[in-house]
Amino acid sequence: MPRNIIDVTDLTVEEIGELIDTAEDIIANPAKYQDACAHKQLATLFFEPSTRTRLSFESAMLALGGSVLGFSEAASSSTAKGETVGDTVHTVSCYADVIAMRHPKEGAPYAAAQFSEVPIINAGDGGHNHPTQTLTDLLTIHREKGRLDGFTIGFCGDLKFGRTVHSLVNALSRYENIKFVLISPAELKLPRYVKEEALKKRGIPYRQTDSLDAVIPDLDILYMTRVQKERFFNEEDYLRLKDSYILTPEKLENAKQDLSILHPLPRVNEISVAVDKDPRAAYWKQVKNGKFIRMALILKLLDIRV
Ligand code: CP
Repeated sequence: MPRNIIDVTDLTVEEIGELIDTAEDIIANPAKYQDACAHKQLATLFFEPSTRTRLSFESAMLALGGSVLGFSEAASSSTAKGETVGDTVHTVSCYADVIAMRHPKEGAPYAAAQFSEVPIINAGDGGHNHPTQTLTDLLTIHREKGRLDGFTIGFCGDLKFGRTVHSLVNALSRYENIKFVLISPAELKLPRYVKEEALKKRGIPYRQTDSLDAVIPDLDILYMTRVQKERFFNEEDYLRLKDSYILTPEKLENAKQDLSILHPLPRVNEISVAVDKDPRAAYWKQVKNGKFIRMALILKLLDIRV
């Protein structure tokens, strides 16, 4: 059975530390890795739109000297003719050495992995999980703060449908002395199952509020998210909630000077572009980090040591 990354907890804390170390070495010594995946192929199977995840995976494999194949929408694959995800993945696993797959249905990458002869990486499944975004977030936090413990992090926005939030809360619950502040409208609270599995079961205290202003002075990290339009059942609710939080330079006046602002992107309206100039904005660095940590993950899954 190949090693799959469906959930961030498919990696131990020690393995995540090793991936961060490898990513740091890649950043410092890119030439050392340029042929590491020569003659290896990555397939990107994206049944749902993406800019960063798909292109950073592809850029990562190309930077490792490998090649890429795949599709960026279900309509250009035989899914459009009624092929099952299992048969599609079984087919692609005959051509590629590793597969990154995004799908709008929760659990689809797990189901697909039962049919694959090569490792499957979940590149985002519906409103459920997004483990490689979490690796990106952890590398970014480590680079910004120099550690993965002992801080207060605020998650703000759509905590119900935001899969990056679910995965990151789950991942951070395994580190010491992290305070979680969950900032959302009542309708978009973190799902009960995430709170139970990641926080309550481990006895980790958390605070819930609908006011970013009330808690922003306490935060070391602010993880902003967009309201996930594509997961709403009716447009009226989306329109009512979409601008619940808009981070502006004025709102940041009460924040710590060493706050780190993260956002998985895409951004819609929840961070004013004026914030991009603030030295506390780390989300464009986060985009770059996504490529390096995915390079490290590909090397690990292909068992290539440099
Ligand atoms: N962060 C993220 O998953 O972005 P994309 O949807 O552009 O891949």
